[in-house]
Order: sequence, then C-alpha cells, then structure tokens
Amino acid sequence: MTNWVEVCSVRDISERNMAKFTVESKDILILRTDEGFFAIDDTCTHAEVSLSEGSIKGCQIECWAHGAVFDVRDGSVVTPPASEALKTYETKIQGDGEDAVVSIKIGE
Ligand code: FES
Repeated sequence: MTNWVEVCSVRDISERNMAKFTVESKDILILRTDEGFFAIDDTCTHAEVSLSEGSIKGCQIECWAHGAVFDVRDGSVVTPPASEALKTYETKIQGDGEDAVVSIKIGE
C-alpha cells in the first residue's frame, strides 16, 4: 500500500540544506536543493552511518564517514566506497511559499 505522508513545511529546511525526520519508523532525509525537494534514506549503504552529518553539493550528498557520494535525485552512487544505491522517495509540495507542505510517498 502506498501512502503520501506530510513530513514538514518548506520553511523547516533552509535552501541548500537538509533535515532528518522519522516517518513510519524510517529515518529519512529531506533535502532542499536548487532543483527542488528530494527524499532519501538517511542511512549510508556503505557502513550504515547517518547521512544527516554529511554535506550537500548541488544534488549530491557526501557521506562524512568514508566519502561516498550519492545523487539524491535517484539515489545512485556517484563515488565509492558505497556500491549500493540509496532508496529514494517521491516528494510533492502542496501550498505556497514557505508555508507549503512537503509530503513523501511511502510504500510500494
Ligand atoms: S559509511 Fe558512508 S561512505 Fe562509508
């Protein structure tokens, strides 16, 4: 079953930044990039640390632990040592400006 879950307001995440949320028992990062909002699993696929401590460069996130880089648009690995893609979640924005609500699609 697929559900859209309201996670936060646009204002909760400053531009070119990210925030970590627990949604239906999953730790998920929402990223606000110049290309829009993206949602990924917070856990690095290399050694299972939190990517919320990493750094954003455009639409990529670099893991702080060993330097793996992922594309947040599709979760793909850009730079090893990670070899497994991150899970991504579809996002939608409802409303206007900073009051708009960010939702993500959870489930199959
Ligand atoms: S835990 Fe992320 S690159 Fe190793």
